[in-house]
Amino acid sequence: MSYVKLPEFEESGYVVVDSYDQSQDPQEWRDIEFVDWKSSGETRFAPLASAYGDMECNGFWHHDPPKTDKDGVWVPANAARAPRLKARAEEPGANIGRCRVIELQPNDYADCIWNLHQDDNNRLNPEGTGWIVRGFFNLTDNPDSYMILREDKNDPATETRIPLPAGTQVIIDTQRLWHAVWHPGPEPRYCLITSWESGPELGGWIRERHPRTRVENAPLDPAFLEAAQAEVARRQAAKEAASGAMVDVMSEA
Ligand SMILES: [Fe+2]
Repeated sequence: MSYVKLPEFEESGYVVVDSYDQSQDPQEWRDIEFVDWKSSGETRFAPLASAYGDMECNGFWHHDPPKTDKDGVWVPANAARAPRLKARAEEPGANIGRCRVIELQPNDYADCIWNLHQDDNNRLNPEGTGWIVRGFFNLTDNPDSYMILREDKNDPATETRIPLPAGTQVIIDTQRLWHAVWHPGPEPRYCLITSWESGPELGGWIRERHPRTRVENAPLDPAFLEAAQAEVARRQAAKEAASGAMVDVMSEA
């Protein structure tokens, strides 16, 4: 048996839908409580829905009892302060797992490539049910920042760069695609991230919003890209050397 997946994700692993008019909403992310949670750079998170409704951001499978990234429980204090964000997460009508606002401090392109990672959304997800994908609703206006996606972490030719003006709505199979955000700044970026179960509800919501499964890549100077790849390779080598040195120390102890 396999998972229920939406055909929109088959080709590229992501879908960009119509932008949302973010300017009509209050800036609720300024009123909610953030907790320190490291993920892909200098970040904090404000949980709106967590595994059991506590003010924390851990993966649902780390809890007792563990669960897959579904049936998130609204965190009362933050959900009360952010009714629009909660309503937007609920709009597709799909099962919601983790739902949180990320705060990302400025970084550079090499940091972003270094931070590329895949999520683990479908751990414990029973086969035959819907594959978990994640929605990214950009809250702040960051037209010069990009969601960087790669099919192959080490191959820049597989890269997609999606610009992030306010109201951008992207849904990504983050367990398939390597992803991180390049955010030059200068202010922190805020984004609503929601885990949704694939199924007819999410599919219907996507299809009503002119889905695009390929966006034209923002241009990037090949020399700039190459320099970043070299910097990431350098960091990787330094990391491996450091962990090798640690093994040496331990074996001598
Ligand atoms: Fe992620």
